[in-house]
Amino acid sequence: MRTIYLNAGAMVHFSSAMAEHEQSIYAAGKGIVVEDGVITSIVDSEDVRQEYSLPVDVALFQDADVHIHDLHGQAIVPGLIDGHAHLLWAGDRSREVAWRQEGKSYAQISEMGGGIGHTVSQTRAASTEHLLELGYMRLRDALRTGTTHLEAKTGYGLTTESELRLLEIAAQLNGIEHTPSIESTWMGAHDVPKGMDRADYIDSLHAEQLPAVLEQGIARSVDVFCEPGWFSTEESEDILRAGHQGGLAMRMHIDEFADGGGGELAADLGVETADHAHHTPIEARMQMKEAGVNTGFLPGTPYAMGDSWPELGPLLEHDIPFTFASDFNPNCYTLSLPFVCSLMVQRCGLHPLAALASVTVNAARATQHPSGLMHGQLTEGAVANFNIIDGPHWESMMLRPSSSPFSGTVLNGKYISQ
Ligand code: NIG
Ligand code: FE
Repeated sequence: MRTIYLNAGAMVHFSSAMAEHEQSIYAAGKGIVVEDGVITSIVDSEDVRQEYSLPVDVALFQDADVHIHDLHGQAIVPGLIDGHAHLLWAGDRSREVAWRQEGKSYAQISEMGGGIGHTVSQTRAASTEHLLELGYMRLRDALRTGTTHLEAKTGYGLTTESELRLLEIAAQLNGIEHTPSIESTWMGAHDVPKGMDRADYIDSLHAEQLPAVLEQGIARSVDVFCEPGWFSTEESEDILRAGHQGGLAMRMHIDEFADGGGGELAADLGVETADHAHHTPIEARMQMKEAGVNTGFLPGTPYAMGDSWPELGPLLEHDIPFTFASDFNPNCYTLSLPFVCSLMVQRCGLHPLAALASVTVNAARATQHPSGLMHGQLTEGAVANFNIIDGPHWESMMLRPSSSPFSGTVLNGKYISQ
């Protein structure tokens, strides 16, 4: 099946070596040819018309194997990649807003019976059908704001059986029509379950949970909440190394509330991405850069928690690569990457092109497409995942935090109206 998208407006393609550069944008007038879900060419619409003998009025064109879609000058950006999301959990944590406003910390809220522990009990109690339904609705929500691929962590089961169940549900959701593709991460080391001895739980992660996860074969990566008060750098290292030995890629949560040495560990281990990284000192950031470790900022979390914004200046100054992701979780209830980008552009002065690169071409380095093909950029041979902006200016994506800036999304070559 061939689909031809004609008359694009400005198109951010990110196919040149220097992503955050004006060379990453084609002027209006291009056409995109897609065959079986893959981009085969991006050339001037006039050249496409000639090659495929299209009439001036494409509505008159008739060929069962070729579908023509006129973009009418709407701007195009690549499909967005959410490299950090806690997709599957049940329940509600809104009572914690008042606790936070009374000055309670994340750790205190956890001790008061809220936090991850609360969501763990609600998730364990939820039926598989309910979790499937929640997951499906969330994925549809993510697609509505342009996400075409999403990383989904477990971590609200914290027993072998319930962690495997969350991975199985993610696998069932993966590939449903009109939803982003999913890659799964096992995060048994998200917290120590209530009522369980800490050392016993960590032993069980090694002796029981990890081997079962490996045998199940759904998770691509392992993640650990490496943070003072949760998992120490030593504990994190052991779990990450064991996962890696079993064939999993490594990801980390680091320095969300305090510098706990997670940045140095991320660099030592060469993990794919170390996220939050809010309190990571510049020396550790430099080590991460040297080791090829991505920094994944999650601006929705400080937004929801009332924390300061990430300081991007030193990263831009030292050319340290970073990405943005949603961190969707019960405390940070957004899957919208346009919202996340708008926070960074409008609150932190980041250039719109750098913000867009952080959720597309740069995000693709730490979060690959399941097909093994390129994504996050629009070029020959890449997956045909792209978003059609509701207007001629791609930058408007950064200015619309409360609604989807997209009139449509093309997912694996197929047009979906938004
Ligand atoms: O990345 N910080 C650890 N995990 C999540 C939050 C989990 C929760 O509060 O339920 C995060 O922000
Ligand atoms: Fe997270």
